[in-house]
Amino acid sequence: MFMPVIMAGGSGTRLWPLSRGNYPKQFLALTGAHTMLQQTLLRLKGIAHSAPLLICNEDHRFIAAEQLRQLNINDAAILLEPVGRNTAPAIALAALKAVQQGDDPLLLVLAADHVINDTAAFQSAVLQAEVFANSGKLVTFGIVPTHAETGYGYIRRGAGAADAYYVQSFVEKPNAATAEQYLQTGEYYWNSGMFMFKASAYLQQLQAFRPDIYQACVAALSEQTPDLDFIRINKAAFMACPDDSIDYAIMEPLTAQATDSVVVVPLDAGWNDVGGFAALWQVAEKDSNGNVLQGDVLTENSQNCFVRSEQQLIATVGVSDLVVISTKDAVLVAHKDQAQNVKAIVNQLKAAG
Ligand code: GDD
Ligand code: MG
Repeated sequence: MFMPVIMAGGSGTRLWPLSRGNYPKQFLALTGAHTMLQQTLLRLKGIAHSAPLLICNEDHRFIAAEQLRQLNINDAAILLEPVGRNTAPAIALAALKAVQQGDDPLLLVLAADHVINDTAAFQSAVLQAEVFANSGKLVTFGIVPTHAETGYGYIRRGAGAADAYYVQSFVEKPNAATAEQYLQTGEYYWNSGMFMFKASAYLQQLQAFRPDIYQACVAALSEQTPDLDFIRINKAAFMACPDDSIDYAIMEPLTAQATDSVVVVPLDAGWNDVGGFAALWQVAEKDSNGNVLQGDVLTENSQNCFVRSEQQLIATVGVSDLVVISTKDAVLVAHKDQAQNVKAIVNQLKAAG
């Protein structure tokens, strides 16, 4: 038995203009009828767990609540962050909240914006992880890497057997040359960004490595204001919390010392974190020319494109490997290989205010 903790506070800027500040990626239906958040919750159907805890930005509370309601999930708690401080504090809030309720549950920490094709394989990895997490370990889920991606964490496996290994080191977002080296060894997994541990096990490590984050989160939770079904925390205290991810704050420094407290469970389940349009193209349904066509779209002699219209008709002729997106207030045209760089456009927009 575990408590799902869904981190839904990211901004998903590499999918602009679909993903927006007021409506980020995790709340969008990108690969089917359900949104990424809903798919995350549906993926847990059939394995024993307690009511989920969702953590998101307060600006998105009604979107989150509505998406839970659509799934008839009435028992979820929604904890609101007045501002994003990344995943180390978000998970700390969840863990502290769980411990405050009087017990020390296992937390299954999930990103709200991943695609996982093989639900059965995912669920059996979770059940495997439960055994290790119950004995006090911090469990990561490792994906066999296919290329030297620099946007992921890398987990080096140590002793163990096929169902789980001790983690020898964890390196968050290495540069391309380092990632390439890791790939060559055959000993590394990508970090999937999902974790399982007892609430107390996480809090103990956070206290050891980042007492500043720990204290700020305790302070933020010292004042809780119920607002409809939402839990609001002390804004000033949380704003004073340092910004850091669990990967940098805990996984890297903890595994830099000799430790047997971190375990990796391999996950072979068609995982994809849909980090950009190229990844979205990869996981989405394609026509016989390799095009992903969503909405009102016509193509002629076009190959391997991702075309999505939320407004007017889009037509393409004689092009390949393009991303063309039209929403009610923006049009993006990008080469699929460079679509990651839409982030730069978002930065330009932010700079322009
Ligand atoms: N509540 C909350 N608050 N959630 C957050 C926040 C926050 O401040 N920041 C991010 N999240 C959520 C995102 O919505 C996403 O679901 C998840 O936490 C991970 O955050 P990302 O910002 O997407 O992290 P990343 O992709 O750069 O890196 C992580 O995931 C990779 C795999 O996708 C790391 O764990 C990497 O090591 C990992 O390889
Ligand atoms: Mg991500």
